[in-house]
Amino acid sequence: MTFNLPNSRAGRAALLTGLALALLACSPAGEPASNRGMARTMQSGMPMMRDMPQGMMAGEGMMGPGMMQDMRPIHGLLASHDKIQRRVEDIPNGVRTITTSKDPEVAEMIRTHVRQMKARYSRGQPIRNMDPVFRELFRNRHKASLDYEDIPGGIRVTHTSDDPQVVLLIRQHARRFVSEAAKEGMSRAMRPTPLPEGYRAPAR
Ligand code: HEM
Repeated sequence: MTFNLPNSRAGRAALLTGLALALLACSPAGEPASNRGMARTMQSGMPMMRDMPQGMMAGEGMMGPGMMQDMRPIHGLLASHDKIQRRVEDIPNGVRTITTSKDPEVAEMIRTHVRQMKARYSRGQPIRNMDPVFRELFRNRHKASLDYEDIPGGIRVTHTSDDPQVVLLIRQHARRFVSEAAKEGMSRAMRPTPLPEGYRAPAR
């Protein structure tokens, strides 16, 4: 898929905001979103955005601070998904993942993305909150730790928890979201991720 960003700052902001709305909106908990549902979000979201003041168009306020910044690597990764290799290994209490690319720009986007998402955990600032697995991961962020190490071509991530229910979420996110997104790109990002089988939301 090729995608050219508009030249003007406002144009880029509008486009990225629309893209963010599309990627972030999945159907509510447990209810599988169809592409039609997502299309409806796009249809209702886009005209509304035209009428928004510039600050809202830039994403701050509407989607929280840092959203536009975080969306660039996310979009870049989805657009370059076919240049990404990924391996997920179960370890006690979680996963170890290796995500790499032979393209140095893509490798750098992977590293930036992981740092940005870890920072979101620290700030308690959810993303893709209507996807049940993402919502639960952010709700339980205090029970998980995400450590990373840059390696040639990308990054190695160790994501663990002492809570077995959170381990289920971590594994589901790694395999059923990130690995599928790396394989399929944008079309995967348009679908929510089912909660892992047997998952019971832990008490806070
Ligand atoms: C091809 C696309 C993508 C790639 C290659 C990618 C890569 C990664 C990697 C390597 C991690 C560290 C955890 C792990 O390895 O399992 C991660 C975590 C994360 N990603 Fe992505 N990602 C992609 C798409 C997205 C999208 C579309 C979103 C949201 C809109 C997103 C949000 C997150 C969040 C919130 C985390 C931290 C949560 C966690 O690890 O539990 N990612 N991603």
